[in-house]
Amino acid sequence: MKHYKITGGNLLSGEISVHGSKNAALPILAATVINNGKSIIHNCPNLSDVRNMLEILNLLGCRAEFVGRDVIVDSSGFSPKDIPYDIMKQTRSSSLFAGALLARGKRALISGSGGCCIGRRPIDLHLRAFGEMGADIIPTGDGILCVADCLRGSKIILDFPSVGATENIMIAASLTPSTTVIYNAAKEPEIVNLADYLRSVGVIIKGDGTGEIHIKGTCTPKDGEVEVVGDRIVAATYLTAVACSGGSIKIKSIDPGHLSSVIASYRKMGMSIGVDGDEIEVSRQTRLVNLPNIITSPYPGFPTDCQPLIVAAMTTSYGIGIVNERIFENRLGHCERLRRMGANIETTGRCAVVRGVYSLSGADVSSCDLRCGAALVCAALGAKGESVVSNISYIDRGYENLCDSLKILGAKIERIELNE
Ligand code: UD1
Repeated sequence: MKHYKITGGNLLSGEISVHGSKNAALPILAATVINNGKSIIHNCPNLSDVRNMLEILNLLGCRAEFVGRDVIVDSSGFSPKDIPYDIMKQTRSSSLFAGALLARGKRALISGSGGCCIGRRPIDLHLRAFGEMGADIIPTGDGILCVADCLRGSKIILDFPSVGATENIMIAASLTPSTTVIYNAAKEPEIVNLADYLRSVGVIIKGDGTGEIHIKGTCTPKDGEVEVVGDRIVAATYLTAVACSGGSIKIKSIDPGHLSSVIASYRKMGMSIGVDGDEIEVSRQTRLVNLPNIITSPYPGFPTDCQPLIVAAMTTSYGIGIVNERIFENRLGHCERLRRMGANIETTGRCAVVRGVYSLSGADVSSCDLRCGAALVCAALGAKGESVVSNISYIDRGYENLCDSLKILGAKIERIELNE
């Protein structure tokens, strides 16, 4: 059993660098399958989801390993295979292999994908796009089988700018010489990072970062290389830690532009936030004031991944905060846990109404998903007394050593691992 023991009340200070983005690294790793040679992924975070992706790559004959902070993948030995259900369900991003397997191996069986229980997470948009690109989509007892001798370039209009579907289509299109256009594409920084990798192997991509992406694939991919961008959600977690506990810190290795909606919201709440190059300086000197209109939406809107974080910050801020979760239907599990710490939060459907209390009290709380866990840690840093945050394997999926990083900033936090 693993948990964090946190004693709240210390002001945070000092400097911290954020690691590479999980949500950018995972689709890039899936995309390395299309390459017939070597790929070097710099600044790859060493997280359980990343290690699961390496396991899948090795199973597919693509030799993948960490060398320091880089992952090196040699995909020349690729042999097409169905990913076994047991391995696929360990990480939600395993579904991102579908585009790559279809493009290079002509067949992909999607037998289920794991991850956090924050909503249904359907893949109908991915499948419809594969169908429009010429794949046969066949439901089977083992999962959904996608088969295509040869994918064709096509014009795909997404009903919703799904990040996963945009990534899967980009990867699927990268070995197809005719052009694929994605309309209503996702604009997240992770999409741009994936496009950077695909360009490095010879795919021609235009419009990434906008709602219309053009992809002209290559028949002869070459060795590729990319640097994973700093993790904007990890940076937002440090911002939230300061919002909850007070103090003043510098966050390094992050593009502040990737966090503009989060920075704008925290500034409105009263935090002092300065940006300079790839650094963010943040401090909280007085009690923050709640906002009545946080609505999660696709990038550049307020990120769903930061919604549990800002709810944690709102619990002790002045006045009434209102948060609407518009991306996932089941992403307010942290509210019930924060109530155990003394927060005053009412939830109706996807909406949370937070009435700020003067302070939270330490309690035993259990993470119900990755960002719920991070939100509970932040809340505990500002609470009176001791908290125990359990189920932290969720947190390990998205943060390299959150405990040591927060200790560097002066937090009183211990990671306890007991043998069962
Ligand atoms: C989502 C987030 C992404 C975040 C990631 C990890 C958005 C738009 N996406 O990406 O920023 O980093 O979680 O937490 O905020 N949907 C369908 N059919 C599909 C695909 C998606 O209906 O085929 C729906 C989903 O149910 C959900 C919404 O679209 O309501 C967003 O899904 P999508 O962007 O695909 O999710 P992720 O790729 O997981």
